[in-house]
Amino acid sequence: MVPDKVLDEINHNRKGYEEELAEFLRIPSVSTDSTHTADIRQAAFWVLKKVQKLGFHVELHETARHPVVCGHIVNDPALPTILIYGHYDVQPPDPLDEWITPPFSPSIRDGHIYARGATDNKGQCLTYLAAMEAMLSVTGTLPLNVKVLIEGEEEIGSPNLGSFLQEHREDLQTDVIAISDGSQFASGIPAITYGLRGLSYLEVLVQGPRFDLHSGSFGGVVANPVQVLAEMVARLKNNDGTVAIPGFYDHVLELEPEERQELSNLPVDEVRLKKYLGVDELVGEQDYSPVERQTARPTLDVNGIWGGFSGEGAKTIIPAKAGAKVSMRLVPNQRASSISEGFKSFIHSIAPSTVKIQISEMHGSDPVLIERNQPAMEAAARAIAFGFGKKPVFIREGGSIPIVGLFKEVLDCGSILLLGWGSPDDGAHSPNERFSLKDFHRAICSVAALFYSLEESYRA
Ligand code: BES
Ligand code: ZN
Repeated sequence: MVPDKVLDEINHNRKGYEEELAEFLRIPSVSTDSTHTADIRQAAFWVLKKVQKLGFHVELHETARHPVVCGHIVNDPALPTILIYGHYDVQPPDPLDEWITPPFSPSIRDGHIYARGATDNKGQCLTYLAAMEAMLSVTGTLPLNVKVLIEGEEEIGSPNLGSFLQEHREDLQTDVIAISDGSQFASGIPAITYGLRGLSYLEVLVQGPRFDLHSGSFGGVVANPVQVLAEMVARLKNNDGTVAIPGFYDHVLELEPEERQELSNLPVDEVRLKKYLGVDELVGEQDYSPVERQTARPTLDVNGIWGGFSGEGAKTIIPAKAGAKVSMRLVPNQRASSISEGFKSFIHSIAPSTVKIQISEMHGSDPVLIERNQPAMEAAARAIAFGFGKKPVFIREGGSIPIVGLFKEVLDCGSILLLGWGSPDDGAHSPNERFSLKDFHRAICSVAALFYSLEESYRA
């Protein structure tokens, strides 16, 4: 499938790709934090130069916030086109004191490279650039026409990419889209993802008195915003852990018995999962397995809650305000816009008139399901079997990649390959994020195989 000389080149240049990854990881391209704006730009230019060096025609497009890097190589209009999507932005690295080595000083231990962005998404994204570098350097060409779109706002919900897609819809036309921004089912069990959850993320602010009050002087006459918020948050779920917002489950697509059967065949190790998480018991809907609950059922989580005094010692106050950030992971056929509306109406309906409530929407993205019976999926399965030495399993992912729904809608492309090269225990978004160097290498081989195998399947 892959010419020997391409494989030789990939094997030979293993260290070179690792060094390049380390260089990319040294740039603290945190998209949420405006103090990192210069770093974000540095990362965008790093990608731009890298893609340019491969011989692509490449451009950096400014957006209202962070730039998008787009490039293309047209080898032969008769060949199929692949669009590669990834992101160069990363999550904030805190809590810093939990990192064994600093987040932006990549370090190699026990076969992994540790740094913020190692798996999410710099390492995974680089596998495509490395594989193309190898193919181009020894064959002088690529077996497909290639477009790349690497953005800097994924971790903040891709707020400007939707309009970018609309504007550049014609230029971005493609036969297949490949994205590696997720995981294998487990380390050593490669997977193809055919489902992503959507996301509805809101912030609730509760305003009580004008300023913090002496709780002795005013306790008994004024509503306490922290108490009010805690009571409202508690009412978001029923006693059995299901979400209490009216209509929340209305459009949830139930799993078909065959899919449940297939998911139940995945080698889940609950004992290991609990050990990894450091918990004695799992929670959730009793009628669904942990895998189903993690990927194919909707959830609601409080991501953070604050208010009042939490410093050292005791301070007797009635706080003036309190706030909470709440996210809901969505599954087909829920829509982020109506779930967010439902959340807002529910909060307003249970809020007492003794406080003022303000709710703002932070992220919204719709869930995605991808047709499994299509040639591109078969090509990807062959490519993964080649690179990882094992056939992939088919999974859904619990996380979200906000733009994927719009790829389907705006670019009208249903051939989306979600090929996670990471591992669920890579610690994405956590301290000591890492990426296995063995998987990095296997993934580069798989990407090369994917290119040749897609070309073969389109020729057939
Ligand atoms: N790489 C993740 C998406 C992901 C997470 C895929 C877990 C598979 C498993 C992506 O970078 C991410 O973190 N997305 C955010 C989106 C949000 C910030 C709008 C997410 O899912 O929380
Ligand atoms: Zn992420």
